[in-house]
Amino acid sequence: MAQYTRVSGSVGLISLRNPPVNALSSVVRQGIVDTVKRALSDPEVKSVVICGHNGIFCGGADIKEFGTTMSGPPLVPMIHAVEAADKPVVAAIEGLALGGGLELALGCHYRIAHSKARLGLPEVSLGLLPAAGGTQRLPRLIGVPAALDLITTGRHITAAEALTLGIVDQVTDQNTVDAAVKFALSVAEQSLDARRISTNPCPRPSDLDALFEGVMQKVRQTARGAIAPVACVQAVRAAATLPYTQGMEREQELMATLFNSGQARALQYCFFAQRAVGRWSMPSGARWDTSKPRPIRKAAVIGLGTMGRGITVALAQTGLFVVAVETQEKQLMEAKQAVSGMLERGAKRRGVAPVLNLVSYSSNLQAVADADLVIEAVFEDMALKKKVFQQLSAVCKPGTFLCTNTSALDIDHLASQTRSPELVVGMHFFAPAHVMKLLEVVYGPRSSPEAVATAMHLGKKMGKVSVAVGNCRGFVGNRMLKPYLEQAFFLLEEGATPELVDQALEEFGFAMGVFRMSDLSGLDVGSKIRKASGQPASNRVQQGHRYSPLGDLLCEQGRFGQKTGRGWYQYDKPGSQVARSDPWVHCFLEEYRARHGLVARRIDHQEVLERCLYSLINEGFRILEDGIAAGPGDIDAIYVFGYGWPRYRGGPMFYAGMVGLERVLERLEHYHQAHPDVPYLQPCGLLRRLVASGSPPIHKWSEVIRKVHSQL
Ligand code: NAI
Repeated sequence: MAQYTRVSGSVGLISLRNPPVNALSSVVRQGIVDTVKRALSDPEVKSVVICGHNGIFCGGADIKEFGTTMSGPPLVPMIHAVEAADKPVVAAIEGLALGGGLELALGCHYRIAHSKARLGLPEVSLGLLPAAGGTQRLPRLIGVPAALDLITTGRHITAAEALTLGIVDQVTDQNTVDAAVKFALSVAEQSLDARRISTNPCPRPSDLDALFEGVMQKVRQTARGAIAPVACVQAVRAAATLPYTQGMEREQELMATLFNSGQARALQYCFFAQRAVGRWSMPSGARWDTSKPRPIRKAAVIGLGTMGRGITVALAQTGLFVVAVETQEKQLMEAKQAVSGMLERGAKRRGVAPVLNLVSYSSNLQAVADADLVIEAVFEDMALKKKVFQQLSAVCKPGTFLCTNTSALDIDHLASQTRSPELVVGMHFFAPAHVMKLLEVVYGPRSSPEAVATAMHLGKKMGKVSVAVGNCRGFVGNRMLKPYLEQAFFLLEEGATPELVDQALEEFGFAMGVFRMSDLSGLDVGSKIRKASGQPASNRVQQGHRYSPLGDLLCEQGRFGQKTGRGWYQYDKPGSQVARSDPWVHCFLEEYRARHGLVARRIDHQEVLERCLYSLINEGFRILEDGIAAGPGDIDAIYVFGYGWPRYRGGPMFYAGMVGLERVLERLEHYHQAHPDVPYLQPCGLLRRLVASGSPPIHKWSEVIRKVHSQL
């Protein structure tokens, strides 16, 4: 709703009330229409202030209303009515003015913001555009280039930047509503002609065509298949080239196309999935989040390689004391420099002081004795990790949580090395750990709810999307990655090239295909692990199933990827990131096929996508069947935030629903018939059950999953 009072004699004060962010629900919109009418018809009122209750102006449209039949007054005419008012209307922006909230403020004649307020038009991140005049008013107010930047990226800006750009007229450190009322009194009798943004011409850059061409090219490149950023550019172009009314029509047309696209649905699904993972529950229905997390003041990290360094930085940036332990003196020195550098650069970027003093370094494990929580990140070697856990259990004070960053090893096995297995959980970060948003919190059969709650809470404090998952080889993300990678290797054996596979996956929307990714992370890591587990490099059959040793064979040639300047591609020099096609690899593949009597055939993008993605999705269904993830939304969040799955495709499980479960099942059956020695292609029981149940929408899968679990 919107509350109306008269203040300072002649100012009508309208306060939006819809906690927590005063979203523009139908009731709020109705309230604004009514109160504006009331203020304008009150002869005592000379000017109007619109503010938000509880220190927040307005967080935008009510996302819960998306996809439902709209009731109440629409946003566009409501904002027009505000703009057309014959008394000055001032927006008092505290907290947030986002999306529809900022569009409402742009309909006002003046904007006063608190110095801590944040403004933005983030619609693009939900697959939409600011369709209440935002794409038409903002370029008129601040010019085309700046408007393009804000609208196509959806980034939030500070009040200071908004002032520089000319979005707000004044920034205050004082009470914003008081400042706005004072301002409203001062402009009460002034002409509004120049203040109605929609009536002003849009500044036309001289090189309009070149400007839009350049921006469009850049946007298409970074959007990697997302259509909303492209539509945003088209809408701003309309502002620059058409009269306002026609520009608004174009904005509405583009919005309708986006609204009905699968991409907007996928992005909105992701938005809710990301929120829901915080309310974690086990597939059995038991909840962890009813348990209270224990406060963590001092953390420790063991092993300062790639991951340990990133984790140390992420912990320190959260404000925790961190003891960082590394046994190799040389590594310790290098790590110290690297961590300090990362902290300094991060602080500079965020405009805060670096927190170097929060981190202390040691080569002695005794240094972690008084830590509240320890994260182990030594080599991926079970024997070594077991020893470290035994030592930690002896050294740490009672009650210290012991966490491991292992990518795949058994948490329960590590827990059994300690005095208190209930304090052991996995905290699986992704590289680089101070940047990547995902954290898998892995609970073993003996992990206590308090330990899981503490790890989840710490992850959240570190700004991560934390997802609680069960204990199995590879947990959720890496377990699903295995069949995906395996198919990519098989496709090479059957006639594809790394370029063909990568191109298909990158066109689908992944930031990097399998082979460019593998060159980046280093082929030697996986190969070393496979060697350690006793797998011979040349064998094409393992445990009775088809296996491709291609990656190991490439490693034997000293081709470890970017770090050696050679991998699945060639690089100008070690460490370079520009991958070029390598004829040597093509010869290597031909020789390999000849040696094993394999006949190369033509493979198209469709087959690459179906085999790589459907085998990954199939494993996702197995994970749901096994109760390792609480629901499809958790799997999707893991893939979107940790594995570069294109957000506008919602995540693998959502995508399966979009493709159609029958189709996924039919293609898996087809490929499994063609490759009966590949178990990952055998359709999972849950997928069959879902199809047999009429392929319900994703939010109804849980009913079928529950039935499967109850029969186990
Ligand atoms: P790394 O090889 O870069 O670093 C491991 C570090 O541990 C080395 O500096 C080594 O000297 C140190 N170390 C070995 N034994 C130690 C001990 N007893 N006490 C203290 N330090 C010791 O390895 P990386 O890549 O950082 O991986 C660490 C862990 O994180 C592994 O379990 C790995 O599977 C996991 N992980 C790795 C990811 C990656 O992308 N590299 C991603 C997610 C998890």
